[in-house]
Amino acid sequence: MQDEEILREEIAEEARDDVVEEFDGDYPIEIEGLRNEFGNQVVHEDLSLRVQRGEILGVVGGSGSGKSVLMRSIIGLQIPAAGEVRVFGKNTIGAEPDEEAAVRSRWGVLFQGGALFSTLTVAENIEVPLKQFYPELSAELRHEIARYKVRMSGLPEDAAAKYPSQLSGGMRKRAGLARALALDPELLFLDEPTAGLDPIGAANFDNLTRDLADTLGLTVFLITHDLDTLYAICDRVAVLADKKVVAVGTIPELLELDHPWIQEYFGGPRSRAAQVTSTRAKAMDNAADGKA
Ligand SMILES: Nc1ncnc2c1ncn2[C@@H]1O[C@H](COP(=O)(O)OP(=O)(O)OP(=O)(O)O)[C@@H](O)[C@H]1O
Ligand SMILES: [Mg+2]
Repeated sequence: MQDEEILREEIAEEARDDVVEEFDGDYPIEIEGLRNEFGNQVVHEDLSLRVQRGEILGVVGGSGSGKSVLMRSIIGLQIPAAGEVRVFGKNTIGAEPDEEAAVRSRWGVLFQGGALFSTLTVAENIEVPLKQFYPELSAELRHEIARYKVRMSGLPEDAAAKYPSQLSGGMRKRAGLARALALDPELLFLDEPTAGLDPIGAANFDNLTRDLADTLGLTVFLITHDLDTLYAICDRVAVLADKKVVAVGTIPELLELDHPWIQEYFGGPRSRAAQVTSTRAKAMDNAADGKA
C-alpha cells in the first residue's frame, strides 16, 4: 500500500515538473525546400510538405525514392544539404542540444525493421527512452510504465520479459510500437510497420494504429507500401516521386491527377482490390455500430 502511495506521489510530481506546452498549431511538421544528397546522388530536391495536426498521413513512393531518408531528416538523423524542417514550430536543423532533446522527447519512432535491442527484453527496450529522458524516475515506476505500454500495444503481459528473438514478427512490431509510445509522444513515425506481416496481422496492426491515434490524439507519419493500410486508416497520402512530394491528398483526390506513378499505383488492380476490401470492412464496422 505504502509503495503504491509513493508511486502515485511520484507520478503527480512528474506531472507537475512536466508542464511542456502542448503544440496547438495546425502543422506539427513543416518542410520547405528540402535537399538531401549522397555524393552525386540527389535524393530530394526542393521538397516541401506539411503534416496536419491529428492526421494519419500515409507516405508512399517507389523503393529508393527517399521515404526513409525523409523521415530521418525530420527526426534529425540526416542533416539535409539545404532546406528547413520545423517540428512543433521549432527548427530541428542546427537546434541547440537541449532544445533538440526537448523536441525529441515529443515523438516516437518505429524504424523500418524494428530496431529493437536484441540483448534487452521487451520491457527493457521500452525503458531505454524513459531512462534517457527521465533519469530521475524510479526503477519501479519505469517498470510500471513499460508494462502499461506493453498492454497498450496489444501484447500479452508475459511478452514484457521476452527477448526480441523469442517473439513473432508481428509481436516484434508491436514491441517496437510500445517503445515508440514510451514517452507519450504527440507525434508518431512509423516506417513500413506492416511489412512482412500476414494480411490479418497487418489489418490488426492498422486497427491498433488508428485506435491509438484517435484515443491519444496523435499525429502519425506513416511510410507504407501497403495499399490496404492506405485505404483503411490514412486521412491523406503524400506521394514521393521525382525527388519531391508531387501530391498530397485523399486517395480520390490523388486519382484525379495524371501523374504516371500515381495512376499506376492507385489505378492498378491491387489498388482496386484494396478499395473493395476497405469499403466492405467499413460497412461492416458501421453495421456493428448500429450506424447502417
Ligand atoms: N546513408 C546513406 N548513404 C548513402 N546513400 C543512402 C543512405 N541512405 C539512403 N541512401 C540512398 O538514398 C536513396 C533513398 O533511400 P531510402 O532508404 O530513403 O528509400 P525508401 O524510399 O525508404 O525505399 P524503401 O521503400 O526500399 O524502404 C536510396 O538510393 C539509398 O540508396
Ligand atoms: Mg525505406
